[in-house]
Amino acid sequence: MSGDMAAEARPDAIAFTINGRPVAVAAAPVTRLADVLRDELGLTGTKIGCNAGDCGACTVLLDGRQVCACMVAVGQAEGRAVTTVEGLAEGTELNALQAAFRRHGAAQCGICTPGMLMAATDLLARNPAPDRAQVMDALGGVLCRCTGYIKIVEAVLDAAGADNTVEPAAGAAVGASISRIDALAKLTGTDPFAADAIPADALWLRVVRSPHARARFAVGDLEPFLAAHPGLVRVMTAEDIPFNGHGINPAIKDQPVLADGVVRYRGEAVVALVGERTAVAAIRDEELPIHYEPAEAVTDVATATKEDATLVQEDKSGNLLIEGYVTRGDTEGALGQCAAVAEGDFETAYVEHAYIEIEAGWARRVGERLELHVTTQAPYMNREEVANILRISEDRVRIVPTACGGGFGGKLDVHLHGVLAVAAMATDRPVAAVYDRPESMASSTKRHPSTIHARLGCDRSGILQAMEMEADFNTGAYASFGPTVASRVPVHASGPYKIPNQRARGRAILTNGPPAGAFRGFGVPQAAIAHETLIDDLAEKLGIDRLELRIRNALRH
Ligand code: FES
Repeated sequence: MSGDMAAEARPDAIAFTINGRPVAVAAAPVTRLADVLRDELGLTGTKIGCNAGDCGACTVLLDGRQVCACMVAVGQAEGRAVTTVEGLAEGTELNALQAAFRRHGAAQCGICTPGMLMAATDLLARNPAPDRAQVMDALGGVLCRCTGYIKIVEAVLDAAGADNTVEPAAGAAVGASISRIDALAKLTGTDPFAADAIPADALWLRVVRSPHARARFAVGDLEPFLAAHPGLVRVMTAEDIPFNGHGINPAIKDQPVLADGVVRYRGEAVVALVGERTAVAAIRDEELPIHYEPAEAVTDVATATKEDATLVQEDKSGNLLIEGYVTRGDTEGALGQCAAVAEGDFETAYVEHAYIEIEAGWARRVGERLELHVTTQAPYMNREEVANILRISEDRVRIVPTACGGGFGGKLDVHLHGVLAVAAMATDRPVAAVYDRPESMASSTKRHPSTIHARLGCDRSGILQAMEMEADFNTGAYASFGPTVASRVPVHASGPYKIPNQRARGRAILTNGPPAGAFRGFGVPQAAIAHETLIDDLAEKLGIDRLELRIRNALRH
């Protein structure tokens, strides 16, 4: 509906003011205010990260006080004043707070920025000169995964600063900070993220995911199901996918776009529903004629590497995806000569990226080409992957990367690209999809859990002589970046230290867990936990200061 509809024009509607302008919306009173702002009023500067009041991306002002718009029913806004990020600037003239965010580089990916600005606006209206603790307290309900918060807090403390300079003066540019070119759009809420510019005539797609970590399944007759659900246009299965495999590694396309009779992790895509938005959303997974035969899952590396372990992928003997080595010198001999040897076993768990922007996108057919607007870190790799899935040439695929609200490696892999592309080509309609937070967490790649055994030895003066490391990485049900992690960790096993004798091995092991992939460092943080702990142990054994021992062994050019 139009955002400038006057309250008196719709006496049955819910009337309030938005950014000082009266509006009336004909929505059910229980509708989330965030949905009304975005879907009815077109104010997509308010972001949705969790829909549960946890991330604060949807923070707006209600009668001047910050609230999570996802947790406010629009009926509660009746007769009240709602302010969103779009209400802060005068055209392209940023207000003092927004200008401070620009000066301090406080908007990085920008998905949290509207929420941060609104929370800070609330604070500054009540307390124009807050101290650091008060700023941190006021912003505590809004999560940022990019900045580390420092720049944001500094910006709020500096909001009254008069300096609104964007570019350094002539002659002062070298070494000076410059404003991000997309700062204005991020600070005014106009930078379009993947869920912000979906065509009004788009069909919607929802993926139905496996409730089992390991199962065989069969899809029954879909004709009666389609007939019983008006507004549902298609139910896509593996049979609809021209090439049903993908993977970030150019040589390993082992993950189906839609599972084909076997599911290998809880949350794996099984079928995709395509149709009118409300129709697709209303269907419960249990209604679908999908018959599962669950089996015992291989949940960890220890189980997966037993001699009689069930194979996660039938052609991967021993559930071994790949292994990598680095060897140098005589490690065993050198360890035997060391004055001190530290040894340890280390375990790390899955880690979720938790980017604030959940996966979203939309696709359409343009003549013989497929155009996909999507949140991504890798548009060119995406083009190759989508062309391969569709079995068409790459020049017939155009990837339009939207603003990306955090990725950290997790948006290198394709997510809903394949199903959207196939659905748009099949229906000749724009097709859109937006995950919710549980779906994002169930389906996206994680940091590899690791199991590491390592030994590190040095001479009497603390000079490192030898290191041995055996590292197993749980790569989940499919390869993703498993080959990269397994082969890179041995290279990084010794960290930033010179160690003349070294033997390191990394293995990527398949399990029925979610696929593990790229995540800031590709296995290096897991290895660092091991070698840094062992260096601390050596320092303690020899009575040498920990920093001093590191300095003595640091790589030098
Ligand atoms: Fe805060 Fe990216 S800038 S989440």
